[in-house]
Amino acid sequence: MRIDVLTLFPEVLQPHVTASIIGRAQHAGIADIHLHQLRDYSTDPHRKVDDRPFGGGPGMVLMCQPVCDAVAAIEALDPRPALRVLLTPQGRTFNQAAAQRLATHERLLLICGHYEGFDERILDLLQPLEISLGDFVMTGGEIAAAAVIDAVVRLLPGALGHEEAALHESFQGRRLDHPQYTRPRAFRGLTVPEVLLGGNHAEIAAWRRAQSEQRTRERRPDLLAIDAARRPAPARSNRTNPNRQLASNRVIERAAIPPAVGHASDDRPSARAACRLAACGGAAAGSHVESEALR
Ligand SMILES: C[S@@+](CC[C@H](N)C(=O)[O-])C[C@H]1O[C@@H](n2cnc3c(N)ncnc32)[C@H](O)[C@@H]1O
Repeated sequence: MRIDVLTLFPEVLQPHVTASIIGRAQHAGIADIHLHQLRDYSTDPHRKVDDRPFGGGPGMVLMCQPVCDAVAAIEALDPRPALRVLLTPQGRTFNQAAAQRLATHERLLLICGHYEGFDERILDLLQPLEISLGDFVMTGGEIAAAAVIDAVVRLLPGALGHEEAALHESFQGRRLDHPQYTRPRAFRGLTVPEVLLGGNHAEIAAWRRAQSEQRTRERRPDLLAIDAARRPAPARSNRTNPNRQLASNRVIERAAIPPAVGHASDDRPSARAACRLAACGGAAAGSHVESEALR
């Protein structure tokens, strides 16, 4: 998977993408992560990327020109269509299901904001998926981008070393993970549950399942009753004229993150149609068409 990140602070992200499992995934050729400095795409002699908001008010707003030109230039670096993801507190809250969907894509382009955020026309023109890390406001999108990269890359085949690891963690199957123990068997009077020491794999599996159910019921009962709530809202198409899309339409579009075009497990008619459209539409168009057709 290729991941491009557009940011004003690549130095914030650099350590996150070079250390530990993500760094190893890059060395192994599983992930290929590129950080791009937004100022490099400004046509302003002083590399300015922001300006004061029309209508007044505090702070600065990221301007259309550098962001739109950067996205076009970055997308042209690779023939694979990029799924555009814009980090914003106003987006759909990121979770494990979203990470799994993003991991099916061959290429992501993450766009980090700063200051007061983006000129609204950037969203109108690029029609990105809008992803939030949660209901709080940070100074920039870099930490959110690092979280998305980490959660997605560790799901890529080969990234964790042993494929099973990602299957047995919290939120897989809408359950929290069971408790884990390691040596020593006793620590400050607390002992490891006997069943884990006996070597009976069936009993261990049953104990873990029961623990997982119990702590999900206690801590996150919402996960157990989530099926109905997860159904995506009906899509509203604006394929014919994306640039005229109203900001309010995007609320509907945030309902679901699309799996990759042509992803093996997705045989819905809309997915197949998107494959054909993306094949005709080139890199930038592919990204846009895909994200609206698969909702
Ligand atoms: C100070 S915030 C802008 C907030 C914006 N004025 C608002 O109230 O919605 C600056 C940037 O940080 C990033 N950001 C802040 N909080 C975030 C969150 N919870 N999730 C994802 N990105 C976030 C976004 O990229 C955003 O453009």
